[in-house]
Amino acid sequence: MSKQKYDIKDLSLASSGGLRIEWAEQEMPVLRKIRARFAKERPLDGVRIAACLHITTETANLVATLQAGGADVVLCASNPLSTQDDVTAAIVADMGVAVFGIKGEDNERYYQHIQAALDHEPQITMDDGADLVSTLHRERSELLQNVIGGTEETTTGVIRLRAMEADGALEYPIVAVNDADTKHLFDNRYGTGQSTLDGVIRATNVLIAGKTVVVGGYGWCSRGIAMRAEGLGGNVIVTEVEPLRALEAVMDGYRVMPMLEAARIGDIFITSTGDKSVIDAQHFEVMKDGAIVANSGHFNVEINIPALEGMSVEKKCVRPSVERYTLSDGRHISLLAEGRLVNLAAAEGHPASVMDMSFANQALCVEWMVRRGGDLEKRVYPVPQEIDRLVSRLKLDAMGIEIDTLTDEQREYLASWKSGT
Ligand code: ADE
Repeated sequence: MSKQKYDIKDLSLASSGGLRIEWAEQEMPVLRKIRARFAKERPLDGVRIAACLHITTETANLVATLQAGGADVVLCASNPLSTQDDVTAAIVADMGVAVFGIKGEDNERYYQHIQAALDHEPQITMDDGADLVSTLHRERSELLQNVIGGTEETTTGVIRLRAMEADGALEYPIVAVNDADTKHLFDNRYGTGQSTLDGVIRATNVLIAGKTVVVGGYGWCSRGIAMRAEGLGGNVIVTEVEPLRALEAVMDGYRVMPMLEAARIGDIFITSTGDKSVIDAQHFEVMKDGAIVANSGHFNVEINIPALEGMSVEKKCVRPSVERYTLSDGRHISLLAEGRLVNLAAAEGHPASVMDMSFANQALCVEWMVRRGGDLEKRVYPVPQEIDRLVSRLKLDAMGIEIDTLTDEQREYLASWKSGT
């Protein structure tokens, strides 16, 4: 346990959290398999891990896996609104892990919680968005000497860490878990796609069919969102700044146009770009009365909320996770989940089946780093290919799906350059 024992909402919520953690576990066969091996081999014996993650039922299963491997884990929230309070209670009560996170905590408490996790003097950091790593480097540099390495879960975090590396500021190796194929091709696309629409629907209960849904960005997360919005009957418009991605969106069948044009015709707006002010004052200026605006990118900067506040004469919470702003000309714009990750703040985040692969990568990458000891450089590493392949194989096995293998003749053919037409 770290210095402060824990800081959570209510320990008495543990039994409901425990049941939901078990429910998620059923859908995480790859992680279960790793957990069983870890329990035998104890590859993380005594290793202190500080994990800064969205505290969900799936994260609880990752923590249990790390513990089975012998790790001494503390956990803090990676977003003020994504914490599931019953899960924090169950992790403290049933696993004896120090947890720091309360749904709805303010920024000050959020950073106090990161500091509390750092008090654990981690040897491994596990981050989602790089706030833990950034705080460790900027404010707790005396702790850097203990650190073997770290992992990063999300696109935004990897971008920040690459910027640290380019600046010569990164003081220990990090594995970019996000960049594994078995992570971003599934978690970012199918996980974000489903959970984002789930968040929008739980918050608003609006019918998607027949609505014009504007999706900001066309990275893996936005692709998932566009795909699922279309699947529900939405009329999808994509906005982009990268020509290649814009072209892909066009050929995937979506309308593509600048946000200023889309702003005039959209009913529902969902950003997932990783950049700031994707929806800004000029866009609010032309939106239809009743427009709904949400974000599924990591930080709450994609929608310029201060601009919306400045243009509004009234703000009212009309349903959980829905603030309705009244503009001076009488139009209403509804903002979901305070512009924070709508899939985690208004729903439960990605389903367990997809987090199974993301967190299998996390567990295996921690093991890889610990086994490599101190022989890695201070840079951002890709996930080793053998880990990525193993995760896809284990997932297929768990799903009972068999695939073909190359014959010797086929293998030889692929390795030769002499035979052509
Ligand atoms: N990120 C997105 N969904 C998540 C989940 N269910 N658990 C942890 N992190 C997540």
